[in-house]
Amino acid sequence: MGALELDAGPCTLRPWHPADADSLVHHANNRKVWLNMRDGFPHPYTQSDALDWIARARAARPVTSFAIVIANQVVGSIGFELRSDIERFSAEVGYWLGEEFWGRGIATAALKTATAYALQTYKLNRIYALPFSENRASIRVLEKSGYRREGVLRLSVFKNGQFLDQALYAFIAHRRPE
Ligand SMILES: CC(C)(COP(=O)(O)OP(=O)(O)OC[C@H]1O[C@@H](n2cnc3c(N)ncnc32)[C@H](O)[C@@H]1OP(=O)(O)O)[C@@H](O)C(=O)NCCC(=O)NCCS
Repeated sequence: MGALELDAGPCTLRPWHPADADSLVHHANNRKVWLNMRDGFPHPYTQSDALDWIARARAARPVTSFAIVIANQVVGSIGFELRSDIERFSAEVGYWLGEEFWGRGIATAALKTATAYALQTYKLNRIYALPFSENRASIRVLEKSGYRREGVLRLSVFKNGQFLDQALYAFIAHRRPE
């Protein structure tokens, strides 16, 4: 598992390690990050939350959760939820980056690399994301990574005391049925 490392240019992507907990708390414990995530992403984000997250990520097979690493420090996360049954060729992608690193193209580099890896490794035809429609930065990241807008899920989430729209973006691989 330790050998898996994806070069994304300005960052690398690799599986989580228990030693990442301090760095994970440092970057994840941020209300501005939490505001754009599902409520399953805790706030405040404690050491125990970090250790739970890392343990779950390490137990999963195949590996679907990756630390975003710059200069040997974990600065964010990107991962996939593989769907099942008739949606088994689809996955949802999710990601976040520590605020200190925003605006340098890092999430875009991570998403491009992770998308290519996931399509090939999990043999997917479709990867989708559901950013809140007001999350312009994430929507730009998806557009720059080749994801296309498919629609809006009107008032589909309740976050921070408000009903919000989600935008649906997807990357299609155009696999042929085997
Ligand atoms: C979304 C997030 C991952 C982006 O990471 P990043 O490394 O800063 O992204 P990039 O630098 O690759 O690209 C950001 C793009 O958004 C643009 N952008 C940033 N803030 C913006 C805003 N308020 N309005 C419009 N565009 C904005 C940037 O200009 C850039 O686009 P450009 O290259 O065309 O100029 C990061 O902001 C984050 O972690 N946010 C909190 C958690 C989150 O939203 N996760 C995604 C949930 S769907």
